[in-house]
Amino acid sequence: MSQHPAFDASTGKACPRHIAIIMDGNGRWAEARGKARIMGHKQGVEAVRETVRCASRLGVEALTLFAFSSENWRRPEEEVKFLMELFFLVLGREVKKLHKNNIQLRIIGDTSAFSDRLKKKIDEAQALTASNTGLVLNVAANYGGRWDITQAARRLADKVKAGELDSVQITEERLGQQLCLAELPPVDLMIRTGGDHRISNFLLWQLAYAELYFTDTLWPDFDEQAFAEAVAAFLSRERRFGCTGAQVRAWMNDKQQG
Ligand code: FPP
Repeated sequence: MSQHPAFDASTGKACPRHIAIIMDGNGRWAEARGKARIMGHKQGVEAVRETVRCASRLGVEALTLFAFSSENWRRPEEEVKFLMELFFLVLGREVKKLHKNNIQLRIIGDTSAFSDRLKKKIDEAQALTASNTGLVLNVAANYGGRWDITQAARRLADKVKAGELDSVQITEERLGQQLCLAELPPVDLMIRTGGDHRISNFLLWQLAYAELYFTDTLWPDFDEQAFAEAVAAFLSRERRFGCTGAQVRAWMNDKQQG
């Protein structure tokens, strides 16, 4: 069995190196309190802050948050406008704190659709934190898993067209290298809040071997306790990466003894 980087054979209880989260339930959180949906997004920023703190403290290498999907443009114009303004404000307000905490911020997704003002803010935030060596915080904005795979395929097609690559050299590995997050550890744990059990066009390729964890907790209520429960659920699972349970256990025993 080949070694998976997330798999600590000595204990069989490796902490997740890369956590991805679908932050769902902001609207319902607000509606349950008789507030406008946008108030849920505002409160959701607090949960983002707390989650970043928890992930950093746990020593997670990468945290990827789904902030705005390619499909979220279909929401009421007012809500989309509010979310864009919120991203702008949050980037401006939080980036210095992220930098101080040695966190590297990256935005993944098709940012070409954003306003010049927001694009500039994104560029500035990424540039400021680019050399940080702590947690890598990826914010997926105007991101879709299908978009990601399509852009990766297009890049390989360009290489074939330029004569740099033969089509028979297109392998899973080469395609994977063109995807967002390719340089980071594979996603170990994907958390979705808000009660739905769907991937919703998030990291379709990158979630291939991730453990999926669904909770009814609405995103603004996702706190340290909820984070700890998700990590505990991850630690209780046996990851087999296509092997049998007996193979994994034998391999772990070997590693423990030698
Ligand atoms: C889904 O809840 C949430 C969103 C589409 C937006 C999430 C964005 C934030 C929490 C702001 C984060 C900002 C940064 C810069 C990281 P929903 O509205 O679909 O909730 P519902 O299912 O209850 O309607």
